Formats: sequence, C-alpha cells, structure tokens
Amino acid sequence: MAQVFSRAADSYLRLGLIIISGLVAGGLLLASGLVRSDYLTGVGVAMEQPVPFSHKHHTGELGIDCRYCHDQVETAASAGYPPSHTCMTCHSQLWSNAAALAPVRQSFTDDRPLRWNRIHDLPDYVYFNHSIHVARGVGCAECHGPVDRMTRIYQARPFYMRFCLDCHRDPAPHLRPPEQVFNLDWQPPPDRAAFGRRRMAELDIQPRHLDSCYICHR
Ligand code: HEC
Ligand code: HEC
Ligand code: HEC
Ligand code: HEC
Ligand code: HEC
Repeated sequence: MAQVFSRAADSYLRLGLIIISGLVAGGLLLASGLVRSDYLTGVGVAMEQPVPFSHKHHTGELGIDCRYCHDQVETAASAGYPPSHTCMTCHSQLWSNAAALAPVRQSFTDDRPLRWNRIHDLPDYVYFNHSIHVARGVGCAECHGPVDRMTRIYQARPFYMRFCLDCHRDPAPHLRPPEQVFNLDWQPPPDRAAFGRRRMAELDIQPRHLDSCYICHR
C-alpha cells in the first residue's frame, strides 16, 4: 500500500506534537509559578513615581533620618508620605532648577500634594499599625528590607498572613533596642534572643494573644 504521508510529513507531525505538548507543560508550569511569583506579590518590583526619588541617595548617602519625611510613623497607624514642603526645605536651594524636581515645585506652589504610587498595600480587611511596632522595637528593615540601598523602593518581602504570624508567635528574636529601629545598619548582638526575651517581659508582650484573628482582622 502506498504511504499516506511522506516521511517528511510524518516527522513534521511528530515535531508539531512535541511542540504542542511542550507548550501545554510550559503553560502549566507558568500558571503554577505565577501564583507565588514576585510579579503578583509585588516583591522586588519597583514602581514609576512622579519624581525619581532615591532612598539610597537621601538615607544611605546623605543620612537623612526616616522620621524627617515619615514623621507620623511613631504616632500613627500609617507612616505616610512627606509633603512637598519637606523636600523644599533643601530643594529650594539645592537642585532648585532641576527638571526632575519640577513636579515638587509645582505641587509646592499649588499647595497640592504629590501623588506617590503606593508600593506596599495590604488588603482592606487587614488592620496594620506602624506606631506599635516602632514602640516595641521592630525595625523598619524587618519588614521593608535594606531601604537605604534602594534607588527605587520595592517590596522586600511578601506580606502573606504567614509573614505576620511567624513573628507574632515568637517576636523575641526580632526585637531591637528602640533607638535602633531606624538604623538600617544595626548589627544584632550574639545574645539577641536573650535580649528579646527580656524586652518581652519588660513590655509584657504576650505572643499567645498576638496570633488571634481579631488582632489583624477587626
Ligand atoms: C527625604 C525624604 C525621605 C526620607 C528621609 C525617607 N523617605 Fe521613605 N519615602 C519618601 C518618599 C517621597 C516616598 C514615596 C516615593 C517612593 O516610593 O520612593 C517614600 C516611600 C517609602 C516607602 C514605600 C511606601 C509605599 O508606597 O509602600 C517605604 C517602605 C519607605 N519610604 C521607608 C523609609 C525608611 C525605612 C526610611 C529611613 C531609612 C525612609 N523611608 C526615609 C521619602 C523619604
Ligand atoms: C536634607 C536635604 C534634602 C531633602 C529634605 C530632600 N533632598 Fe533631594 N537631594 C538632596 C541632595 C543634597 C541631593 C543631591 C544633589 C547633588 O547630587 O548635587 C538631592 C537630590 C535629589 C534628586 C536628584 C536625583 C538624585 O537622587 O540624585 C531628586 C529627584 C530629589 N533629590 C528629590 C527629592 C524629593 C522628592 C524630596 C522630598 C521627598 C527630597 N529630595 C528631599 C537633599 C535633600
Ligand atoms: C511589622 C512590619 C512593618 C514595620 C516594622 C514597618 N512597616 Fe512600613 N509598612 C508595613 C505594611 C504592612 C505597610 C502597608 C500598610 C497598608 O497597606 O495599610 C507599610 C507601609 C509603609 C509606608 C507606605 C505608607 C503607609 O503608611 O501605608 C511607608 C512610608 C512605610 N511603611 C515606612 C516605614 C518606616 C519608615 C518604618 C520604620 C519606622 C516602617 N515602615 C516599619 C509594614 C511595616
Ligand atoms: C518582626 C515582627 C513582627 C512582624 C513581621 C509583624 N508584627 Fe505585628 N506586632 C509585633 C509586635 C512585637 C507587636 C506588639 C505586641 C504587644 O505590644 O503586645 C505587634 C503588634 C501588632 C498589632 C497591634 C496589636 C494590638 O494589640 O493592638 C497589629 C494590629 C499588628 N501587629 C499587625 C501586624 C500585621 C498585619 C503584620 C503583617 C503585615 C505584622 N503585624 C507583622 C511584631 C511583628
Ligand atoms: C498578625 C496579623 C494576622 C493575624 C493574627 C491573622 N491574620 Fe489573616 N491575614 C493577615 C494578612 C496580612 C492577610 C493578607 C494576606 C495576603 O494578602 O496574601 C490575611 C488574610 C487572611 C485571609 C484571606 C485568605 C488568605 O489566606 O490570604 C483569611 C481567610 C484570614 N486571613 C483568616 C484569618 C484567621 C481565621 C485568623 C485567626 C486564626 C487570622 N487570619 C489571623 C494577617 C493576619
């Protein structure tokens, strides 16, 4: 009987099948990877901002304290963004004509806040409060990573419920002296856990309450 398909057509068919099954397998891998990927959790992803502000430059190199710009972080739930007049304390003299800073000058003269794009954003059903963490000696770096080395801010860790709970169930090894909260270069002493346990006792922190649902979902 004559061959229905030529030899060449047969190998094309095989090649085609291999490619299709490859695509299907690849698609499945991609789909499962995406669920926890950095793209969806926002980890490591920087964001366009109206002004190319650099934490590396302002905090790492110039050494400006976090509280100079995030001045409600010790007293309020939200750390907030600095108003343009905070930038203008320096930039009315320094780089005062730079094109990159035009939106800051505009916002200052119009008395309208700059709209920074939010990077860290918990779902609305989660309650978070900066001031209590600062007061208890949880450093900014514990949740935000090496901000002083970031030219553009990105989320350093995924804020899964797990991330919060891991610390809430055992905060001792994460605590530091309150005066070191804003110091991103702080090196923990070898007896940090013992220090943490002492602080837990002093401050009467009770881990068995800290993982109750109503703490974060109120
Ligand atoms: C000179 C002012 C200034 C100082 C000092 C400063 N910041 Fe910021 N920070 C900003 C501005 C402006 C933004 C918004 C633009 C951006 O994301 O870069 C911001 C954004 C952030 C964000 C991201 C907020 C979001 O949208 O999720 C974090 C986290 C942050 N700062 C932490 C810190 C920490 C930690 C320090 C101290 C080491 C610090 N900042 C010092 C001005 C400042
Ligand atoms: C305490 C002083 C001070 C404050 C406050 C300050 N800056 Fe700066 N900024 C500087 C200095 C110094 C430079 C570097 C100038 C140079 O390199 O010649 C700079 C540089 C910059 C640059 C140029 C790019 C870069 O990083 O080198 C931008 C953009 C900028 N600042 C934005 C801002 C914004 C936005 C704010 C407010 C959220 C702000 N700055 C607050 C001192 C300050
Ligand atoms: C225990 C973890 C944790 C610590 C410690 C922490 N942050 Fe945050 N930060 C968050 C979370 C979570 C958000 C997002 C809050 C939301 O979406 O409501 C956030 C948001 C921010 C924002 C965006 C504006 C806002 O308030 O939502 C800034 C700015 C910021 N943090 C700065 C800081 C600074 C400065 C420190 C150190 C004093 C600090 N954070 C310490 C977890 C933390
Ligand atoms: C590195 C440790 C650490 C991480 C991470 C952390 N927390 Fe906390 N949290 C603490 C400590 C310590 C306290 C203070 C407990 C106390 O004083 O009893 C606290 C207190 C709180 C409180 C106040 C509880 C009250 O009694 O009012 C809330 C709300 C909270 N955390 C939410 C969160 C959320 C949401 C996250 C994750 C996005 C988070 N925390 C991540 C250590 C942490
Ligand atoms: C220390 C803070 C904290 C505590 C305590 C906490 N949660 Fe959450 N929970 C979160 C955060 C943060 C998220 C958001 C996670 C995300 O965006 O992926 C979340 C998300 C959820 C979700 C949405 C689905 C999911 O898993 O992402 C459910 C349901 C939930 N929590 C139930 C609970 C229950 C039930 C308890 C008590 C056993 C509890 N949570 C205690 C912080 C907390």
